[in-house]
Amino acid sequence: MTKVGILTSGGDCPGLNAVIRGAVLKGTTVHGQQFVGFLDGWRGLVEGNVMDLDRPTVRGLSHEGGTILGTSRFGPYQGPNGGAENIARTLDRLGVDAVIAIGGEGTAAASQRLYDEGIKIVGVPKTIDNDLDRTDYTFGFDTAVEIATEAIDRLRTTGNSHKRCMVLEVMGRGAGWIALHAGTAGGAHAILIPEHPETMEQICAWVTSVRDRGRAPMVVVAEGFTLPGMTEVYSTKGLDGFDRPRLGGIGEVLAPMIEERTGIETRATVLGYVQRGGVPTAFDRVLATRLGMAVTDLVARRQWGNMVALHGTDIAAVHFDEALVDHKRVPLERYQEMRVIFG
Ligand code: F6P
Repeated sequence: MTKVGILTSGGDCPGLNAVIRGAVLKGTTVHGQQFVGFLDGWRGLVEGNVMDLDRPTVRGLSHEGGTILGTSRFGPYQGPNGGAENIARTLDRLGVDAVIAIGGEGTAAASQRLYDEGIKIVGVPKTIDNDLDRTDYTFGFDTAVEIATEAIDRLRTTGNSHKRCMVLEVMGRGAGWIALHAGTAGGAHAILIPEHPETMEQICAWVTSVRDRGRAPMVVVAEGFTLPGMTEVYSTKGLDGFDRPRLGGIGEVLAPMIEERTGIETRATVLGYVQRGGVPTAFDRVLATRLGMAVTDLVARRQWGNMVALHGTDIAAVHFDEALVDHKRVPLERYQEMRVIFG
């Protein structure tokens, strides 16, 4: 019987538990696989820290946010027990034959390296930012968009009451998908994303034209947005576990600038981790369950070095290195499509 170890790595994301449940249910029922979970991401694999994952453990899990396995931004090459050779020994000691790594770009890159060095590993893409290439959507994104849209709806009623400009900052490190979708759904008057810089003059022109129509302007900005002249993304919080700048705060920078230039009272809200928490939407539960089920097929077929992906409505297999070639950014034409109705 194949024994499979599952881990969740990087920032958590609504739907992780649904993946775990989907994998355990199909893996045990259809493929006769057995499962354990590595605790706190790669750290659990490196340190050989596991929990049993059987059917009763995953019962009723698909609607639960977070991850029952815990996660971290700890890499598999970190620490004295890290690296492919040590990991191979740990897997041997635990009797684990294969690894399923659920994570974002950093996880896929680490998985590719481990695969190159002989570890039997497959993956499931995860990120609320929806910026992983070669998969149409990642689970967690729909939930984050839903939460951000609700925030816009709520900010509009308070903004309208006070005739203020409201700025909502959402997540989106290198890709503005959450801002674009939530801003579109919530009818924002300007959507600012990392891929396409806008000048302060342009932003203020949109804001002023909305005010001149007697409306309260609503601006949605992704955390990775930069103004022309900014050489780096706005970050004042140091680095994360993967040595990337911790983002957050560009909305607070923009609000006083808008107020000063337009004379319109402006308030900023940074939505932050609320976007990653709580119950996944039905769409994310379905996608996550299907991906979890499909990744056990990769294990059964010994398609090491691949991750499952959504292509249209089908679940496909994509090699890690293909998925890592590029980021899935918002194409210019997709941004322009909405930009024509800003202001
Ligand atoms: O990668 C997803 C993401 O939500 C980014 O948009 C954000 O910058 C990052 O996670 C923050 O996560 P943490 O503070 O947990 O490292």
